[in-house]
Amino acid sequence: MALRVGYQCQECGANAPQWAGRCVECGAWNTLTEQLPERRGAASAHSQTPVAILALNEIPAQSAVRQATGLGEFDRVLGGGLVAGSVVLIGGDPGVGKSTLMLQALASLRLKAGLPSLYISGEESAQQIAIRASRLKLGTADLQLLTETQIERILEARARSVFQVLVVDSIQTVWTDGVNAAPGSISQLRECALRLVRLAKDHHITVFLVGHVTKEGTLAGPRVLEHMVDTVLYFEGEAGNRLRIVRAVKNRFGAVNEIGVFAMTERGLREVRNPSAVLLSRYEIDVSGSIVTVTREGTRPLLVEVQALVDKGYIANVRRVAVGLEQNRLSMLLAVMHRHAGVSTHDQDVFINVVGGVRIAETAADLPLLLAVVSSLCGRPLARDLVSFGEVGLSGEVRPVIAAAERLKEAAKQGFKRAIVPKANAPKTDSAGLDVLAVRTLKEALKRAGVD
Ligand code: TYD
Ligand code: MG
Repeated sequence: MALRVGYQCQECGANAPQWAGRCVECGAWNTLTEQLPERRGAASAHSQTPVAILALNEIPAQSAVRQATGLGEFDRVLGGGLVAGSVVLIGGDPGVGKSTLMLQALASLRLKAGLPSLYISGEESAQQIAIRASRLKLGTADLQLLTETQIERILEARARSVFQVLVVDSIQTVWTDGVNAAPGSISQLRECALRLVRLAKDHHITVFLVGHVTKEGTLAGPRVLEHMVDTVLYFEGEAGNRLRIVRAVKNRFGAVNEIGVFAMTERGLREVRNPSAVLLSRYEIDVSGSIVTVTREGTRPLLVEVQALVDKGYIANVRRVAVGLEQNRLSMLLAVMHRHAGVSTHDQDVFINVVGGVRIAETAADLPLLLAVVSSLCGRPLARDLVSFGEVGLSGEVRPVIAAAERLKEAAKQGFKRAIVPKANAPKTDSAGLDVLAVRTLKEALKRAGVD
């Protein structure tokens, strides 16, 4: 029988009998690649053990035991530390520091907990890694290293050495003979990741998969891998900025959207335990278009500066650009402000930036964003000791956000004196020493901020 050639989308993994310019499943363009049929027997070799059906109440239900890595900020994003038998995917741009973070975590684990680990490198030679380890002055004397890319040989390592933590750097370089596709393709990624997930579950090993991000900002083959693992972390940072943020976007064992903050140094990544203070290195002079907001990332409040620049544009082609915030929301908020507070920006370019490369996904930034816009528009600086948070609704009302008390406390801790917050969030008794200005509408907020 002639083997039929099929096609597979490299973005979502969907199969198609014929080539097309666009994937019918996910709509991505130019992602279909030729796929030879899988070899028989390649994937069936693992079903040797008898099927064991269990009753749920017979399974001991201890909560997961965690092993702290000793890198506090990393433990925080993991939800307290490593969980045996879990698989963690770490994605990020090339050069952001993934390998360095992994090396530091392994060294710290060995040093502080005596946990044996194995670092598999498919990208760098053993010598390159040794040079880096010595440059970072890590205590890595007995760190086990393997430069290998074939999954069968990687799994063989289990028989030859003892380790409780395995790092595969990177998953895109790993391949198996059983799949007729290039390393890094969807079918290779899926098959190899599956085998590593099985290794983790069968032997209670914590497995870290390092993955590169494509230009579009997603892991190559993202949906396939994200579903298979327990935890997905993204390592973010801007070129030219030393701040590095590890963000949990999925975590079966902890809070999602938790972030860990690091600073990049010659000696490797250093933990930043008080990120608000670092993110708030503000100008000493008053500038218009800038305000501090308290966002909540995972389980802790974080103070960040939101900046706006409003400048006359060409009416036919005004621009709305938001870095660190959602662009569509910006357009919507500007419309709300026009309709309900009478401030028009229809002939103005509006640029928004969240300082320090932080990304805010919650609506609590609505109100500070608009305050910054108006401040820039009228050229009047906002008070330097002022913070603000609150969601703005389509009728111009200011709506409450979660964890307001915590946010106010953090602002007070960082030395702020005044806060413009939603009326429903105003504390009844303890205002953490802040002068709280509670507002019901956007119009009221602009007035209280002195920019109406
Ligand atoms: P690397 O860990 O190799 O990035 P990735 O694995 O994500 O591609 O780091 C890139 C380079 O930056 C590498 O030469 C080491 C250097 N580096 C430092 O000097 N200090 C640091 O704190 C970090 C994170 C990296
Ligand atoms: Mg690397």
